[in-house]
Amino acid sequence: MSGFFCDPSEISGRPAVLQPPLGPPGCGLCLLGQCKSPRMEPFGQGRLEICIVGQAPGEQEDIAGRPFIGPSGQLLSAILGRVGVDRDRDCWMTNVIQCILNTGTSGEIAQARECCASRLRNQLLAMHPRLILVLGGVALRAFFNPPGSITSRRGLVYWNRVYGAWVAPTLHPAAILRSDERQEEERRLFFQLDIERALRHLGTVPPDPAAVAYEDYSGRFDDACAFLQRMRASVGDRKSTRLNSSHTDISRMPSSA
Ligand code: URA
Repeated sequence: MSGFFCDPSEISGRPAVLQPPLGPPGCGLCLLGQCKSPRMEPFGQGRLEICIVGQAPGEQEDIAGRPFIGPSGQLLSAILGRVGVDRDRDCWMTNVIQCILNTGTSGEIAQARECCASRLRNQLLAMHPRLILVLGGVALRAFFNPPGSITSRRGLVYWNRVYGAWVAPTLHPAAILRSDERQEEERRLFFQLDIERALRHLGTVPPDPAAVAYEDYSGRFDDACAFLQRMRASVGDRKSTRLNSSHTDISRMPSSA
């Protein structure tokens, strides 16, 4: 499967062209008919058979006709690089909405998602990834019904029977970039930990792949411990310690009641 979607020589500049051509996108039905680069193709060599699914192309992506080349894409590359994944070589990238959004209202987003749904499904069926990284709440809605929130889903890894792949929701890099300073560190860390956990599922299948839903809850606790360790924080009973959730320095802890 490696290299099927894109000749390695195409990596540096031109968008990867998927073979065979994909099904009808339902273009013209939604409000995005004016976009400059409709039906943006997935990009990447996918050597590790990981597919990254984002929300929608931004301005830079729309002009270049290639997903994730702006600031979100740069953050994505940096964090993947830290865990040993070369984004363009090891992954494919695509979006739930495959044209630039005009207004980003919830109505427009929902309509665009519907219109692009068959196209995304065909792309995923053609790629047959082993792992699908789902970035942010809009992308989440393409995989879960009811979707829940990205904060409640992130960090868990789900088996998807339709695609025969693990689906790992995590934060959208744009949400990390929009965070205030304190949140940003936490969100970057969660993002990396979510990706690391998801990667551990590569090459595995759930105990019962036919199960209606399989959720791997392992690691939530690891996440919390790693985070607390990194923040040098401590958890205790709030009433007896008078600690509140913003205390991170136990050396300056208020004395016990
Ligand atoms: N954000 C996304 O969700 N997708 C892109 O392609 C670029 C930014």
